[in-house]
Order: sequence, then structure tokens, then C-alpha cells
Amino acid sequence: MMHAMGQGDLSVLVTAEAIRSRVWELAVEIDGWGNGVHELHVVGVLKGGVVFLADLIRALSRPVTIDFVAMSSYGQDTKPSSEPRLIKSLDEGIEDRDVLVVEDIVDTGCTLSWLLNYIETRRPRSLRSVALLDKPARRQVDVRVDLVGFRIQDHFVVGYGLDFAERYRHLPYLGVLEPSGTRTEDDAFVTTLDAE
Ligand code: PRP
Repeated sequence: MMHAMGQGDLSVLVTAEAIRSRVWELAVEIDGWGNGVHELHVVGVLKGGVVFLADLIRALSRPVTIDFVAMSSYGQDTKPSSEPRLIKSLDEGIEDRDVLVVEDIVDTGCTLSWLLNYIETRRPRSLRSVALLDKPARRQVDVRVDLVGFRIQDHFVVGYGLDFAERYRHLPYLGVLEPSGTRTEDDAFVTTLDAE
């Protein structure tokens, strides 16, 4: 399916149905961690991770609390600047809590790496991370991601929370934004659909 959106061609990378199904699989994995009895303190990264977090927590069976941080690295560009910035800190203390960081995408890894270090200094009981998307081709720092929804190639992805210049976040599917006319039909966008 192709859509002309004015800033290039938007083609579907992962359908809403495939996302829903994968989110449920991730939730089953997360429910199983530590026998699933402890409350999980879920930390979302604004803004991109908000749609994924909203669906993920509703798929979980274990009790959760939520908090958000806001980080910024891209601004309105498609390339990250060097250092992530913390725009909004945690509202609640996390000492002795089981923390799950929820990200929409791990690209260079700078944002998640910085955030995990930041949270670690606040002494949670446990700390894990889940990312809906992993783009290993762009990695600049070695960062641990405990659970991944989809591993993708180096394409600019929008939808399901992810933006280009603040647009497209509302799309229920994940799409790839390419300059008009550059996409070939046999492009294999998703290389791995399974978690590690
Ligand atoms: C995106 C995304 C991740 C980060 C990943 O955030 O939501 O937080 O970049 O990139 P990295 O691995 O190269 O650090 P962005 O700064 O675009 O803000 P947004 O979530 O508000 O769109």
C-alpha cells in the first residue's frame, strides 16, 4: 500500500494487526519475568514511546505503575545530534522498584544508553528495557535491550508514535517514509520479527 503524503511516499512496514499481535507476545514475556508477581514500574519515553506503552500496559496481566521522561535528540531533523537531552525527569522515586523502560525505537542507542545509566544511579531493584523497533545498522553505542518487537533495516519509520517533524504519530501502523520514487517493491524492510 502506498500513500502520497506530500513529503515522500509512505508505505506500510508493519500493519496494525501485526503490531497488536507482537505487543501481546511481548506482554506475555514481560508477565513471565520474576514469576510476574511484582508490580512493574513502567517508564515511558515521550513522545515516541507513548502509543506503544499504552498498548503494552493494557496487554500485561501484572500490576503496573507508570511514569514518563522526555528526551530529545532529533528535533525536526532525521539525524540525531550528539548528546540526548533530558527535558522531563521522573515524577516518582524508583529505588527498590522493578523498572521497565519502554522505548519506541533504538537507533544510535544514545538515548536508551543514557537513560538506563541515569535510572541505574537511582538504584531500582531491577531494570529492564523493551523497544518496539531496533535498527542495529545505525548503532553508535553498545546498549542492552532486553526485548525487541521488530528488527528493521535503516529506513525512516513513522506511525504508531513515531514522527517526522511531529507528524504521522497517530497512524495505527508503522510506515516507511522515502523520498518520492526511491522505493522498490522488493525491499525487505523487516529482517527479524522475533525477539532475541
Ligand atoms: C527518538 C525515539 C527514541 C530515540 C532513539 O526520539 O523516540 O527516544 O529517538 O534514537 P537513538 O537511539 O538514536 O538515541 P526523538 O528524539 O525523535 O523524540 P520523540 O520521541 O519525541 O519523537
